[in-house]
Amino acid sequence: MNLRQLGSSGIEVSEISLGSWLTYSGGVQREQAEACVKAAFEAGINFIDTANVYGRGAAESLLGDVLSGYERSSYVLATKVFFPMSDTDMGLSKAQIHKQIDASLERLRTDYVDLYQCHRYDSSTPLEETMQALSEVVQAGKARHIGFSEWPVEPVEASLELPGVERWVSSQPQYSMLWRAPEAQVIPLCEREGISQIVWSPLGQGVLTGKYSPGEQPPADTRAASESMSGFIDRLMDDRVLEAVQRLKPVAEGAGLSMAQLALAWVLRQPNVASAIVGASRPEQVHANASASGITLDEQTLAAIDAALGDVIVR
Ligand SMILES: NC(=O)c1ccc[n+]([C@@H]2O[C@H](COP(=O)([O-])OP(=O)(O)OC[C@H]3O[C@@H](n4cnc5c(N)ncnc54)[C@H](OP(=O)(O)O)[C@@H]3O)[C@@H](O)[C@H]2O)c1
Repeated sequence: MNLRQLGSSGIEVSEISLGSWLTYSGGVQREQAEACVKAAFEAGINFIDTANVYGRGAAESLLGDVLSGYERSSYVLATKVFFPMSDTDMGLSKAQIHKQIDASLERLRTDYVDLYQCHRYDSSTPLEETMQALSEVVQAGKARHIGFSEWPVEPVEASLELPGVERWVSSQPQYSMLWRAPEAQVIPLCEREGISQIVWSPLGQGVLTGKYSPGEQPPADTRAASESMSGFIDRLMDDRVLEAVQRLKPVAEGAGLSMAQLALAWVLRQPNVASAIVGASRPEQVHANASASGITLDEQTLAAIDAALGDVIVR
């Protein structure tokens, strides 16, 4: 497993990391989740991403339980704050940031997270207040570094102008062969500022593995067929998208790769990406995905990917 620098943090993270969104917030059985974390360590994955809102604390609690069996310094742990935890607890005010980091640390059973991320931008809180509170969290030793996820570039730029506050080390956008929106503004800004991307849904929630056929019901035991996990996959389950993904199969075959390897090597071709955060419902998937680390795609393969996907790519 190759490691990459996480922005200016000095932390090295594995090119493939393990997320916990729909899966370990209750979507997969506890034993499976535990087996996936074990598989991640076996495969050299050292970076685990979660959020307070995933199952309203459930994913953090599960990870806290499972990770208590591992040496704390052997993994890099990231969590997030912003989305509602109750009718009144939400956003990025000073009070919320302090309250939510303490609650996350308790669930995660640790004194600190390596990365504390703002899950979205909170336009109802002054930016200065948010940045000051995040800086206090770092000063208190509760987080080593800070990151943002899916912020518009304007507040990111404004935050970088503020004196005396922590600087971001990471940005967490959706990024995949199908969803390239960060290439327009976010990646160029972050490249200039020493901020890395740690990207979510690099497999398009599993769609880019090619397991969904256009015009057919999704196979059982997949996210698209799951009652509890299919809520966000609709846009990708469009027949035009699924047909385009089927056209990637000969491209992957020609390159001697699995579809998952092709998709993950594609996001990792971008040097500003430090890690591809994959979800996994089974330990075999963790190993299959980890094997994408270190794969380089040649120009011919990259061009064939663009030709196969055509106008279903979102830029
Ligand atoms: N910052 C944000 O706003 C945000 C938003 C979303 C996610 N995230 C983070 O990013 C992480 C990853 O997101 P994601 O789960 O959507 O990522 P993904 O890696 O694109 O999709 C993961 C899903 O694809 C399927 N899969 C994975 N590997 C496979 C393989 N080798 N072969 C076949 N199917 C495979 C599994 O679902 P099935 O087996 O059930 O089909 C798995 O749960 C999340 O866990 C979370 O930590 C962040």
